[in-house]
Amino acid sequence: MPVRIAIIGAGAVSDYHHVPGIRIDKRCELVAVCDPNEALLEQRQKEWGPTKKTTRYEDIANDPDIDAVISATPNFTHLPISVACSEGGKHVMCEKPLGLNFEESARMYRAARDRGLRHMTAFTYRFAPSMRYLRHLWKRGDLGVPRHFRSQRFLDWPETSWGWRQYKHLAGAGDLFDMTIHRIDFAQDLMGPIKTLCGAAVNFVPRDKTPDGKPCEPSNVDDWSALIGLFEGGAVGVWEGSTLMKGYHNNGFGHEWAEVNGSEGSAVYRLQDPNNILLSRGGKPMESVPVPEEFLVIPGSPRKPHEGVPSTVFRYDLVYEFVSAIVEGRDAIPGFDHGARAQAVADAVLESYEKRTWVDVKQDLG
Ligand SMILES: NC(=O)c1ccc[n+]([C@@H]2O[C@H](COP(=O)([O-])OP(=O)(O)OC[C@H]3O[C@@H](n4cnc5c(N)ncnc54)[C@H](O)[C@@H]3O)[C@@H](O)[C@H]2O)c1
Repeated sequence: MPVRIAIIGAGAVSDYHHVPGIRIDKRCELVAVCDPNEALLEQRQKEWGPTKKTTRYEDIANDPDIDAVISATPNFTHLPISVACSEGGKHVMCEKPLGLNFEESARMYRAARDRGLRHMTAFTYRFAPSMRYLRHLWKRGDLGVPRHFRSQRFLDWPETSWGWRQYKHLAGAGDLFDMTIHRIDFAQDLMGPIKTLCGAAVNFVPRDKTPDGKPCEPSNVDDWSALIGLFEGGAVGVWEGSTLMKGYHNNGFGHEWAEVNGSEGSAVYRLQDPNNILLSRGGKPMESVPVPEEFLVIPGSPRKPHEGVPSTVFRYDLVYEFVSAIVEGRDAIPGFDHGARAQAVADAVLESYEKRTWVDVKQDLG
């Protein structure tokens, strides 16, 4: 029998990443959708075709005919939805940031782990072909002893309201929890845990008008975030993210540059060109190197590697990994533990800026 999946939160990311991922994977089916917005629920039932719909996530959590849940709701709802679904025996993939802080994320992890359920944090960029190939070369030691990590994520967004995303009690933080947290996650995947850091998260723009010109409460979260982090293994990393980078719109994909520098060479992943990496070994200049065919999709994925927009389609592989973990009875990667560990780092950035000091990262998941 296929894995029966429910989507909770029928907004943008479910439509963009998760439903296309379910559609191409014959081992699963979308059986239910949940959203408090009844008009959207109607629309999604027509577009996506699940058999059940509900406005209450508790109905999903308690439904014996649902095996797994993809939770893609505003950040403040991640904890109650995920814990309720774990208590109802469902495997859960949840969007990032996992919670509003490390304690929430660690609770979500323990709720799934203690019941032997599969859990996954939707850290999309781990699935980019160039990231996967860079990781392979780096972990194999081709670039020598790890020294530096560097990440830039620049977006040129309108300066109007971000809706729920621009309020601390609903989102936790702004650019830091929305964008930089992905880069913290893949940095820790490449380099190991960050042990201490110095960070900042600053708000530049009030965004007190909606896109159609109506007044709204001004934002109280950052639209620029940065950190310098020391990894436990001795390497050092530098991250900068901003939604205010004029000139970096690039059809909505913005600019992304993540670079590792080892004693023997350097390699770069760019979201704008996810089927190539930049590579340099032995003092030679960087050159563009195509990602080999076997890294264009995750092993076994039914996705056709040369179909669709490259910066978009790798996101469908998240569902493949989640369903594989369920079918094979193994941990999904990245799990809630990875989500919580990235959150611990992001929390430390906020604390560091508030206290204007370096902060040690807490990583005890309990
Ligand atoms: N992994 C990625 O690359 C990526 C990309 C975009 C968004 N996200 C994350 O996905 C989540 C959703 O973002 P989005 O852009 O789709 O937002 P969105 O506002 O477009 O959609 C969220 C949906 O959740 C619904 N919702 C609110 N409360 C709910 C509840 N209690 N139960 C069920 N549904 C509820 C809303 O009505 C809305 O339809 C956020 O956590 C965001 O950070 C991740």
